[in-house]
Amino acid sequence: MTDQQGFVLWMTGLSGAGKTTIALILMDELAKRGVKAERLDGDVVRESLTRDLGFTAEDRAKNIERVTFVAKLLSRNGIGCVCSFISPYQSVRDGVRDNTTNFMEVFIDAPLEVVIDRDVKGLYKKALNGEIPNFTGISDPFEAPENPDIHVRTDQQTPEESAQYLMEVLEEKGFIPAAETA
Ligand code: ADX
Repeated sequence: MTDQQGFVLWMTGLSGAGKTTIALILMDELAKRGVKAERLDGDVVRESLTRDLGFTAEDRAKNIERVTFVAKLLSRNGIGCVCSFISPYQSVRDGVRDNTTNFMEVFIDAPLEVVIDRDVKGLYKKALNGEIPNFTGISDPFEAPENPDIHVRTDQQTPEESAQYLMEVLEEKGFIPAAETA
């Protein structure tokens, strides 16, 4: 058995940019390669570990701080962490980098007009009507990554293509084994 390296694939981006969709495809692909991985997702974590938190800057920082603790333990023990959080503040994302093993900041990028148009969860409509305070991109900031390790444009490629690209990067970096050729 070869030792697996832990890593943290940290997907940041606006709500509706495609973070969760890409994460789910990635989990399947990683499983097919026999890579041990865990998925940490904003909507899921906010129903358990960070249920008590809202969306002020302070609460968002606390949300990511707790997730960082989990990702730190997993990544240093050989587990791949596939994380999908809006995580709108660069300083907070830099904090995850500083505290985890093999961290990669992945910008899941789609223009605001596109995510408003998609409005998968109907939240943008409500936010634009003033029904949701502190909504990222509408009434709250999103600091786009200044220097992401990986940049994916989901308005220009399918989620499958984005996931495939991320798998290739993980392979190039030596964090996952190469795909077996038949
Ligand atoms: S983060 O900013 O703290 O990283 P996180 O990724 O955990 O956010 O949660 C984002 C999810 O919470 C969104 O996908 C959306 O479903 C929901 N949500 C509810 N209220 C807000 C809000 N004010 N801003 C952004 N997302 C919100």
